[in-house]
Amino acid sequence: MKRIAIITSGGDAPGMNAAIRSIVLSCHDQKIQCIGFYHGYNGLLNDEYRYLSADLVAPIIQHGGTILKSARCQEMHQDEGLKQVANTLTKHKVDALIVIGGDGSFRGMMALQTYWSGNLIGIPATIDNDLACTDTTIGFASAVNTATQAIDKIRDTANAFERVFIVEVMGRHSGHIAFNVGLATGAESILSFENCNINSLDQVKTDLVAKIQSQKQTNQNGFVIVLAENLWPNGPLGLKKDLQDADKIESAVCVLGYIQRGGSPSPEDRILATELGIEAVRAAQESTGVMIGKVAGQVTRHCIIRATEQNKPVDQALRSAYHQISIGS
Ligand code: F6P
Repeated sequence: MKRIAIITSGGDAPGMNAAIRSIVLSCHDQKIQCIGFYHGYNGLLNDEYRYLSADLVAPIIQHGGTILKSARCQEMHQDEGLKQVANTLTKHKVDALIVIGGDGSFRGMMALQTYWSGNLIGIPATIDNDLACTDTTIGFASAVNTATQAIDKIRDTANAFERVFIVEVMGRHSGHIAFNVGLATGAESILSFENCNINSLDQVKTDLVAKIQSQKQTNQNGFVIVLAENLWPNGPLGLKKDLQDADKIESAVCVLGYIQRGGSPSPEDRILATELGIEAVRAAQESTGVMIGKVAGQVTRHCIIRATEQNKPVDQALRSAYHQISIGS
């Protein structure tokens, strides 16, 4: 093995830089050259790259974002794009490509297998934590920390004004962030894919209104609803209107948005990224089509197909914890 290429792809996640660093330093140790391509798969389409040295990556562990930039890439859905990416890898005599990203990025990797015979390794990095075969993905812990700190601040105003707050968190179509943040902040309500579906929204609304009214009778605290993005029709403003229409309940809306993707990675994410990066370099020399993960304290290798095709539901234990301590539910 002489040369490994790296890309960061899809939504950036805190800890991506720590993963790049770990790969480059491991390669340096094993006298393997590292090339970083910019802007995810687009860098491979456009031959936009730089060699990555140990000196360059040594000081980046604490930085959010990614020094390699990131992007989504529609061309990876077409044969022409896949062929072009394969050509670039061949031209640079790359032996293995390590993709740091989420499930969309891994699907691109699987499609590339048809056109390129080098080794393909995935490192799961997305704030959404929606990949199977790893307990957590790089970036998830940091996003949960950021959202928790933000909601703790919102809570002060919620309590001072005895106000209902609807706080939307990210997660695309999964509720890992919503449930973890909801529990960590003691949210009065968590509305996510795991406990609401499109057919039950009327019932959810009725229960929510009852819960808000019942809390008003018993204490003078604020009422924080943590809402998963893409769940409620018309988003948090839709829910605000529904509460107003249902029982004249006033609420304030706060969309946490991209602050959840940014900032310095938490220690957990830095350590996870470091461990997965080291194992990715080992795996790149022995196998292809695998995702490196960490399950029950052990660094693991799983077939990338399993990682992308299997669902990773929010832990039943977390869901039960919410129901057990959530007053009035
Ligand atoms: O996958 C990470 C994520 O931040 C999701 O939580 C969110 O739905 C999506 O990316 C937003 O994507 P974009 O930055 O392309 O709008």
